[in-house]
Parts: sequence; structure tokens; C-alpha cells
Amino acid sequence: MRHTIIAGNWKMNLDLEESIELAKSISKNIENKELNSNNVKVIVSPNLIALSSVVNELKNTEIQVSSQNIYHKESGAYTGEVSAKMVKSAGVNTVIIGHSERRAIFGDSDQEVKSKVNSAISNGMDIIFCIGETLEQRKSKKEFDIIKAQLEQGLLHLSTEQMKSIVIAYEPVWAIGTGETASDSQAQEMHKYIRTVIKDSYNEKTSENTHILYGGSVKPSNAKGLFACSDIDGALIGGASLKADVFCEIINIAL
Ligand code: 13P
Repeated sequence: MRHTIIAGNWKMNLDLEESIELAKSISKNIENKELNSNNVKVIVSPNLIALSSVVNELKNTEIQVSSQNIYHKESGAYTGEVSAKMVKSAGVNTVIIGHSERRAIFGDSDQEVKSKVNSAISNGMDIIFCIGETLEQRKSKKEFDIIKAQLEQGLLHLSTEQMKSIVIAYEPVWAIGTGETASDSQAQEMHKYIRTVIKDSYNEKTSENTHILYGGSVKPSNAKGLFACSDIDGALIGGASLKADVFCEIINIAL
């Protein structure tokens, strides 16, 4: 049985104080909502500077904290990078891997994405695995091939058991930060396809148990329609997760 996941990706926004403040406001806003008993899981993903403090701020709440990235090596001469083990030492057990901004801006290849997945898995972490096609790819009707390739190259080498640690986030690149959301039917169609790919690679049970989130300009006005789709299990939210009242409005829609 799948639950609903509402995850906020704060990206490179908010300094330390602002991050703690946002975490505090979110937890206050959804106090007494009994997320777990309502089958809703809330995750926030601050920048690395704020990670440990946000974990501390949220320690007595039902809200979980994830990292936006890791490097695949355990330790060593990799200036500027942070490993799964280091992120875990800050009390964080989930990591976003394969975000399109990492792929496009920082050059995370499918091979690098796969290595990061392996590192997170061997450190016992849960993963929000992002995939998505560009506008050009959709216009040339390649979106299904692209999504399948991203899954095959970064994820589907995992065992059935390891797949239990995976949440997939379908984030069409053309809908990220643009205000343009995939329509409910475009999103549902792709989520259903992703589930078929998982079923073909594993089995019906793994496919049915895998959470698939939609991401790309999710806001209170479109959340209801998206969440009503049978293969959409929640959202990975950028811009609309940076304001506590807006983010909590979306959580309330899921409740
Ligand atoms: P926006 O919600 O700002 O479009 O960002 C989506 C996203 O990239 C979440 O990871």
C-alpha cells in the first residue's frame, strides 16, 4: 500500500537562519495533523549548510529531512564534495539523486547517477531518484524512450529488495520553475508508463509498491488534480516549498 509523499526541494535557496525559520514554520503549521496516521509523509531538503540544523529543528516532528546530493566516493581528495556517510552523520537518511539541474548544470551523467545510487544504497539510504525529459525531447516524441533509458541506466540494476528504498520523481524539465505544469493526463500517462517499466524489470508487486512523485511547478492550484491521478503518489516541489503557508496548503490537499 502506497502513501502520499510531499517533498520540498529547497535547492540553493535560504541561508542557515532562513532554513531553520522555514522548518519551524512548516512544523508549526502542520502540528497535530498526524501525518503518519493519515498516510502522508513530508520531507524537506535544505542546502548542506543547513542540513544538520534543520534535522535538529525537526527532530520531534514527523517531518523528515533529505539531502539534495551526495558524491559517490566515501572520502578522499574530492574538494567541495560530501559523501553518503557524511550526510548520514548529520542524521539524514534520504538523498535526491539525478535531479535535472544536477544532470544539466553539473554534468551528472547516467553513470555518475548510477554510482551515486550505489553509494546511497550501500550506506542504507533511501533515494528520491529524479528523471525527466526536456521540451525538445517531448516535441520529438522521445519522452518515453528518454525516461526508460534514464531508469535503465541509473536504477534498474538494483535488486527487488533494494528497490524498496527508492522513490521515483518524474520531473519533466520543461515544467521545472517555468510555471508550466504537465497536465494531469500527461503526468498520469508517464507515471503509468514508469510503473510498467518497473513491472517489466521486476514484478507487479514491486511496481505497485514503488512511489512515483510528480515534480514541476506544483502549486496549491494544480496539486488536487495531480494527486487524484491513480499513479501519482505525491510531489517533489521546488518554488512552492519555500513558503511555509503555500507548502502546507499543498500538504493539506494531500491529507
Ligand atoms: P519547481 O516546483 O520550482 O518547478 O521545481 C521542481 C523541482 O525541480 C523539484 O525538484
